[in-house]
Amino acid sequence: MLTDKNKNKPTSPMDGNFEIGPTATAMSETAQGFDKNAPDTGDTLLTIPKSDVSLEDEIDRLAQALSLKFEELTLIHQFSERLKIGEDAAVVCQSLLEELAPCINASTIAIDLYQDDDLQCERIFLFTGERWDENWLGEVASYATSVVGGDICAVGNAPVAILNSPAEDSPAFVRTVVIPIQRDGMSLGRMIAVRPIQEDEFGTVEADLMKSTSMILAAHLINQRQYMEMQQMFEGMIQSLASALDAKDSYTSGHSSRVAELATMIAKRLGFDQDGINRIRMAGILHDIGKIGIADSVLRKPGQLTEDEFEQIKHHPVLGYEILKGIKPFRNILPAVRHHHESWDGSGYPDGLAGDGIPLDAQVLAVADAFDAMTSDRPYRSGMTMDKVVGIFKDGRGTQWAAVVVDVLLASPEILNAKRKNPDSDA
Ligand SMILES: [Fe+2]
Ligand SMILES: [Fe+2]
Repeated sequence: MLTDKNKNKPTSPMDGNFEIGPTATAMSETAQGFDKNAPDTGDTLLTIPKSDVSLEDEIDRLAQALSLKFEELTLIHQFSERLKIGEDAAVVCQSLLEELAPCINASTIAIDLYQDDDLQCERIFLFTGERWDENWLGEVASYATSVVGGDICAVGNAPVAILNSPAEDSPAFVRTVVIPIQRDGMSLGRMIAVRPIQEDEFGTVEADLMKSTSMILAAHLINQRQYMEMQQMFEGMIQSLASALDAKDSYTSGHSSRVAELATMIAKRLGFDQDGINRIRMAGILHDIGKIGIADSVLRKPGQLTEDEFEQIKHHPVLGYEILKGIKPFRNILPAVRHHHESWDGSGYPDGLAGDGIPLDAQVLAVADAFDAMTSDRPYRSGMTMDKVVGIFKDGRGTQWAAVVVDVLLASPEILNAKRKNPDSDA
């Protein structure tokens, strides 16, 4: 049975109101007393003789069933629209509960999420009425599912526990519905609805709504897990590439990770969105990957490089670009990798881009890259003092580096202070 809350909810995709209209009229043309020649008053509502009570009841029943199914579809549609694959599972569940709450007249609706297969719960609650103790709610749900027979029933293929008449040993005298969140044999959690014993019994209407949403949730949670696994595998691959470079160029070990962290901090201050921040972080880790193709004798040379050796080093942005360009997930970091040594005045390499012709990601990486190179110790020299570093950036602002990026760096005490090894001398 629909709750009062649902009476005003749209029940038709056409106008937001469902009535027994032309379709139902056409379906009942055989009804006794239907006058095909009656004038069309514009009012298409079905009129059925009072004597044919069974037909009227049947149509009422069909209309109500149709209305319920439409409400169920509406709920699934609204929930599906909210699903985002990269979103935290807790946020997804909260979103689902917010959609479901108006349709289930329960004191409490909750979701227990199982982490992996160990049945450890991350409990996410949405209290639609009285706030009840979380542990107690878990006990009530477990009790309901442990009861065999009685009010236990099944909806579709999934076992659903509807307990309307708890026994003496129940943790509490409440009506309970518990829906497993499962798919392909994987138990992902459970959805719980509780209603005081003084209120109406739960029925298959509530269970159907909860089951439909739990099926969508289960499919989404599995997709999300697979996405996260792929993401972790991908990040592991990136880290392996960075480690391979660190192993080859031990003088600058950790440089890639530090540049990624710095560039991320700058990007956040510049207002990059989450995609942009993820992109700049990945570009930071891989920006020097082309150095893998540079001879060790040149890469590890502690002293001054010859002109020819420097030309070899200058080739690493293009080498990195060539290494990564065939891998689709890396395509959006190619501009930053290729152009992180361009100079604002056009004197950089490899393509001599200038000003805003330099991709913004590359402008950010250029500053982060230079900052780490200046401030990090090398086996053959110590990192510069912060005063000196700040002075160099002020001199190169608008000539070597984008002024807006340098300004962000110099206005970021969390970056500058983290690198101040001797605050007294740098003050
Ligand atoms: Fe580089
Ligand atoms: Fe670098």
